[in-house]
Amino acid sequence: MNLNNLPPRVKLVEVGPRDGLQNEKQAVPAAVKIELVQRLQDAGLKEIEVTSFVSPKWVPQMADNAEVMAGIVRAPGVRYSVLTPNLQGFEAALKSKPDEIVVFGAASEAFSRKNINCSIAESIERFAPVVQAARAAGIYVRGAMSCTVGCPYEGEVAPERVGYLAGLMKGIGVQHVGVADTIGVGTPLKVQRAIEATLKHFDLNDVSGHFHDTYGQALANTLISLQMGVWQFDTSVAGLGGCPYAKGATGNVASEDVVYLLHGMGIETGIDLDKLIDAGAFVSDFLQRKSGSRVATAMLNKRNA
Ligand code: HMG
Ligand code: MG
Repeated sequence: MNLNNLPPRVKLVEVGPRDGLQNEKQAVPAAVKIELVQRLQDAGLKEIEVTSFVSPKWVPQMADNAEVMAGIVRAPGVRYSVLTPNLQGFEAALKSKPDEIVVFGAASEAFSRKNINCSIAESIERFAPVVQAARAAGIYVRGAMSCTVGCPYEGEVAPERVGYLAGLMKGIGVQHVGVADTIGVGTPLKVQRAIEATLKHFDLNDVSGHFHDTYGQALANTLISLQMGVWQFDTSVAGLGGCPYAKGATGNVASEDVVYLLHGMGIETGIDLDKLIDAGAFVSDFLQRKSGSRVATAMLNKRNA
């Protein structure tokens, strides 16, 4: 591992509007989600996970998926992605013209059942026609792999389970996978092993990190991934979020914190940190909650001093 061999440029996929807000108890109007997306793209984010086409009974906060997709003002060069767990979700999503869809599976059987109501093998059977239809329509397909280091129901997850899922995803034509630490229990060497298992099936350029920050390890996990050459990460503005089927899990690592880390190491992101902080302040003010980003908190304190 070589600290001097870090990628010169990193792409962040902003997942705040989807992963960040999906678990939010208070109603968040579509207009707020639309403005959040606008502020994120104005801050320089080039890929935004906007919403999910899942069952509104399972995740009520995403029930306004079509309204939000219709309301965003698309900027050239920005990619808008949505989650689609099955053909029903994909067909609904298609009308919204996403640039990219995400099928989401788990390295742990128990989490697969809790999150999408089927086994890992069944999930792959459901994803296969979605992937095929998306690729036929020219829509890029990303796969999210949950619980790649730990599961809220099964505990520690072995790297072999991650490799198994990555192989299944590759086999059905998924083009890129995200290695997710859904409940934020991972530490760097465990994350490294999960990524190594994934790299047996996917090229380094087709792998990203998706780290929740429940135990405060997400920046360390990001750093070790960077040292492995990973240059794509999902992050959530103001550290919003959590998964409804992973109790106690907090949000993804805050986008502001990752941008600060990267810029501090001379790694380009194309993101304007001040504007990103404003986007985070906008949504935190709406939710009447303190930002989950340490960097945003520090910089807002400095601005107000
Ligand atoms: P199911 O109940 O097994 O589905 O749910 P079903 O096919 O048996 O259908 C049952 C009902 O759901 C029917 O309606 C369908 O129409 C409806 P009813 O006849 O009862 O009125 N339905 C749908 N409605 C809207 N959109 C759809 C859809 N599919 C069926 N696409 C299902 C299976 C996957 C739909 C369900 O389990 C579900 O929606 N789960 C969502 C879970 C979710 O969104 N979790 C959070 C996102 S994943 C995540 O956060 C992790 C990630 O960030 C990475 C990480 O951190 O790990 C990505
Ligand atoms: Mg997540």
